[in-house]
Amino acid sequence: MHLLGPEPVQAARVLPLDLGEGLVLRATTTGDARDAFAVVEAERERLREWLPWVDGTTSLAVERDFLVSVEQVNAAGVGLHATIRQDGEFCGFAGLRIDLMHRSAEIGYWLSERAVGRGIMTRSVAALFDAGFIRLGLHRMELLAAVGNTRSRAIAERLGMSFEGVRREAEELASGFVDLAMYAVLVQDWPGAEAAIARVG
Ligand SMILES: CC(C)(COP(=O)(O)OP(=O)(O)OC[C@H]1O[C@@H](n2cnc3c(N)ncnc32)[C@H](O)[C@@H]1OP(=O)(O)O)[C@@H](O)C(=O)NCCC(=O)NCCS
Repeated sequence: MHLLGPEPVQAARVLPLDLGEGLVLRATTTGDARDAFAVVEAERERLREWLPWVDGTTSLAVERDFLVSVEQVNAAGVGLHATIRQDGEFCGFAGLRIDLMHRSAEIGYWLSERAVGRGIMTRSVAALFDAGFIRLGLHRMELLAAVGNTRSRAIAERLGMSFEGVRREAEELASGFVDLAMYAVLVQDWPGAEAAIARVG
């Protein structure tokens, strides 16, 4: 019985992950701040539709401060947050927020506009689920997306996650409170990243 959940594992022991075709997930650091903030600045209108923190990210210093907290979470083993690059070029972020007590995690992510539409996030999420289940001993992965965020929901559906219902007005976005669709996959139902991706075709 795991009364206290599994031991925390530092992200640095799991990352980087090489996904092939030049796609690499590295532990997020403050060194990513400049690239990330450049995309936020250039793409505010697109990103703020679905991400609650965009309007508050007003400067490079704010971005850097946020990444300091991400580094701390990664180092404490309660997060597995990765920066996605293809052939060295910044694509975006994907990360697990880990609840050790219940051996579950919630995935969050975003991509720059130029990285959208290439399957980068579906592959990144699958790789983080593999790492979470196999390397971190987690039991359940959750993905929550605004009901209207069809691109995000498509990732859950492509990976065969179960739709478990709607959390009403659970997130405040620029447009106001939105309902969140909740998807999850349990370790015994996860076929592994390779099989999950192969199923996508
Ligand atoms: C949500 C978000 C990450 C989805 O990005 P995405 O590019 O649609 O997702 P993927 O990287 O998995 O790519 C899937 C697309 O690539 C295509 N694709 C190409 N090769 C693929 C492959 N090998 N595997 C899977 N999909 C592939 C798919 O057909 C799909 O394109 P389509 O929607 O035109 O059919 C992106 O839209 C985003 O950053 N949005 C703003 C922030 C946001 O909403 N974050 C989530 C909050 S819950």
